[in-house]
Amino acid sequence: MTETKRRALVTGGSRGIGLAIARALARDGLDVIVSYGHDAAGAEAQVAQARSEGLMLSAVRCDAARAEDWDALFARGGPLGLAEQGVQVLIHAAGFAKDGLLMTQAPTDFDAVQGVHLRGAYLASRACLRAMIGERFGRIVYISSPTATLGRRGQCSYGAAKAGLLGLARSLMMEVSRFQITVNCVSAGLIDTALTAELPKEVYQSLLSSVPMARAGKAEEVAELVRYLVSPAGGYVTGQLLAVDGGLDMLAADAF
Ligand SMILES: NC(=O)c1ccc[n+]([C@@H]2O[C@H](COP(=O)([O-])OP(=O)(O)OC[C@H]3O[C@@H](n4cnc5c(N)ncnc54)[C@H](OP(=O)(O)O)[C@@H]3O)[C@@H](O)[C@H]2O)c1
Repeated sequence: MTETKRRALVTGGSRGIGLAIARALARDGLDVIVSYGHDAAGAEAQVAQARSEGLMLSAVRCDAARAEDWDALFARGGPLGLAEQGVQVLIHAAGFAKDGLLMTQAPTDFDAVQGVHLRGAYLASRACLRAMIGERFGRIVYISSPTATLGRRGQCSYGAAKAGLLGLARSLMMEVSRFQITVNCVSAGLIDTALTAELPKEVYQSLLSSVPMARAGKAEEVAELVRYLVSPAGGYVTGQLLAVDGGLDMLAADAF
């Protein structure tokens, strides 16, 4: 990064892919704030662990889907000086899936998934952009999924939200590129985290069998691409959907 100390906000940074990204950015010298929605104890334990390793992490609760939470987080005099200092790097990794066939999925479940992934990306970006525009510098990365482009039975809500992130990134990129702010999506394949640990064994195995590299990925492998995108070296990459998925995205939809 440049000589100025940069600050990053990683939504969903308290575990899994978000945590690996948060730790990688902290290793690169950024002050990193991780946000979470529910598990304060888990988040604080990760922060304590990172700090014991000399990594500058702080945690804050913010339900990504709730405008009130974002308003409180970025209010003057709010936690961690976010309104005053802003962040230069935003990674939106908060999320969960509520799978089910469209015909049987409750509207509340559909909305909850859109809320955390898509509305969360909009709210997070809106909160962070003011400072980025002022500084004529910013990096925004949304974590997407192969379901966005391949589709998957039982994942209409998740796939719609993850595809929506690309539409959001591309239009937002048009609005903010002249301020030297990049906006990209990283599509993570089958990555071993708490999210995939919840999958029924047979679903996990069937996903695994469709990965050309024949293994699940590590959260740290996703973090490496994000590191590049937020680094000075990645400064001319914007509006892209980049995959870290062991080749999964190359498959035809019916093989997925
Ligand atoms: N793992 C994969 O194979 C995979 C593949 C493609 C894409 N992704 C995407 O990568 C992202 C991270 O997934 P993961 O596998 O790392 O999942 P994970 O281990 O379950 O972590 C999810 C994170 O999101 C937070 N979160 C959940 N609901 C939230 C809310 N309403 N507001 C704020 N934070 C919330 C969780 O904290 P709390 O529980 O405390 O709220 C946690 O920090 C997600 O967007 C997921 O869709 C994952």
